[in-house]
Amino acid sequence: MSRTVRQRIERPPAFTYREQSSGFFRRKPGALVLHCDQAALERLAERFGTPLYIYSASAIRERLRIFQHAFRKVPHTICYSVKANSNLGILRLIGRAGCGFDVVSGGELERVLRVDRRAAKKVVFSGVGKTSDEMTAALKARILLFNVESESELWVLAECAARAREKARIALRVNPDVPANTHPYISTGLQQHKFGVPIDEARKLYAQASGSGYLQIAGVSVHIGSQITDVDPFAAAMKRVAELVRALRRDGHRIEYVDAGGGLGIAYDQSDNPDFESFVGDYAEAVLGPLRGLKVHLLLEPGRSIVGPAGALLTRVLYKKTNGSKKFLVVDAAMNDFFRPSLYEAYHEIVPLRLGKEDLSERVDVVGPICESGDFFARDRELPVASEGDVLAILDAGAYGMALASNYNTRPRPAEVLVDGRSARVIRRREAIGDLLRAES
Ligand code: LLP
Repeated sequence: MSRTVRQRIERPPAFTYREQSSGFFRRKPGALVLHCDQAALERLAERFGTPLYIYSASAIRERLRIFQHAFRKVPHTICYSVKANSNLGILRLIGRAGCGFDVVSGGELERVLRVDRRAAKKVVFSGVGKTSDEMTAALKARILLFNVESESELWVLAECAARAREKARIALRVNPDVPANTHPYISTGLQQHKFGVPIDEARKLYAQASGSGYLQIAGVSVHIGSQITDVDPFAAAMKRVAELVRALRRDGHRIEYVDAGGGLGIAYDQSDNPDFESFVGDYAEAVLGPLRGLKVHLLLEPGRSIVGPAGALLTRVLYKKTNGSKKFLVVDAAMNDFFRPSLYEAYHEIVPLRLGKEDLSERVDVVGPICESGDFFARDRELPVASEGDVLAILDAGAYGMALASNYNTRPRPAEVLVDGRSARVIRRREAIGDLLRAES
C-alpha cells in the first residue's frame, strides 16, 4: 500500500475508508471503501451519477464548532464567506449553526435572504466594486455592515442611503500593507493590490464619512488574502488595525466592530496536515492578541477553512491512454467543473473509492475531456492503478469548487449532494443542456 493511501485512511473526519465486511455473517474482512460520514461513495456515484460534488454536513458543523470555541472568550460573529460555496443547502446548514454571512454581490445577498430573511442582520457586504443597485438592496435588507473600499464608494453609498431613507453602517476596509505569503492571485493585503484603502489614509476618510448623515461609522475591516497557512501575517495585520481603532476612538468615532476577514488556509497536502483545532487556536491567538483591551465585537469571514475539506468531487475514469512514456487517466470531470488545479496549479489529493490490500501504483496525469492542456487535475502523480469505469475522489474540493464551475464547452455543471449521517440529499440537481440554452435566443 502506498504512503498516500495509508495517510488518507487515518484522516478524519469527512472522507474515510471503512472496511466493508463480506461473506456469510460478514465475518470475512473485505475491501476498504471510501465513505462520507456513513454513506459509501460508490453507492452515491451509482445513484446520482458523475461528476458529483459530495459534502459532509457533520464536517461543516464540526469545523464551525471549532471556530466558535476558539473565539468563545470574546463577543464575535462568524460571517461565513458565501463565495467559497454558495449552495442554498450549505448556507442553510451554516445559518442554523448561528452564523452570519459575508457577501460580495447582490446575488450572494439574495441567496442568504432566500435561506433566512432574518439573517440580514448578520450580513457584511464586502467587495471592491459594489453597484448602486446592490448597495440599495443591502440597505433595504438592513444588513449589519458595509465594508467600504474607496472614497468614491463612500459617497455612492451615502447617496443610495439617502434615497432609501436608511442609514448605512460602515467599516472601511483598510489595506495594512502586510505580505501574506500565498499564491499571488489570492494575496490582497499589499499596497500594490486593488483592495481596501491605504491604512495611513483611513483616518482622513473616516473624518469625511462622519460628516454624512446617512453613514454611520461602526468598524474597521481587513482581509489580507486567502489560503494563508502561517498565522503571523494575521497578527501583523491586526496590530495595525488595533492602532487604527485607538486613533479613531481618540478622534471621537464610535468603533464597535473589527472585521478580521477570512483567509485561514487548509492542508491540501497530507504531508503537512496540522491538527485543525490547534491551528484555529493559534489563529485565534494571533487575531485576539493585538485586540486585547479594545472591547470590540469581532467579525470573522472564513470560507475555505469551513467547507474546503468537507467536500469532494467524484469523477469516473472514461479512458486510459499512453502517449509515449506518459500515462493518462481521462476522467469525466473537467476544468469547467473544478478549476483550482488549472487556475492556480493547486494540488488536490486524488484517491480511489475502493482500496485492495496490495494495490499497485503507477505514475499518471489525471486529465479532463476539454481541449486545453491546462485541463488537468494532477500531473505525474503516483496513484493506485485504476481501470476504465473506476471512480476517483478529488479531495478538499468543498471550497471554490462548484463556486468556480462554469459551462465552458457547453458542459452542464455537476449535481451536489449533502450527506448527513446516513442520509444523502441532492442540494443541486445536475444541469441539463436545456438549462444552458434557455437564456439564449
Ligand atoms: N473575505 C473576503 C473579503 C474575501 O475576499 C475572501 C476571499 C474571504 C473573506 C474568504 O477567504 P477564505 O477564508 O476562503 O480564504 N478562488 C480562490 C480563493 C479566492 C479567495 C477570495 N477571497 C481559491 O480557490 O483558492
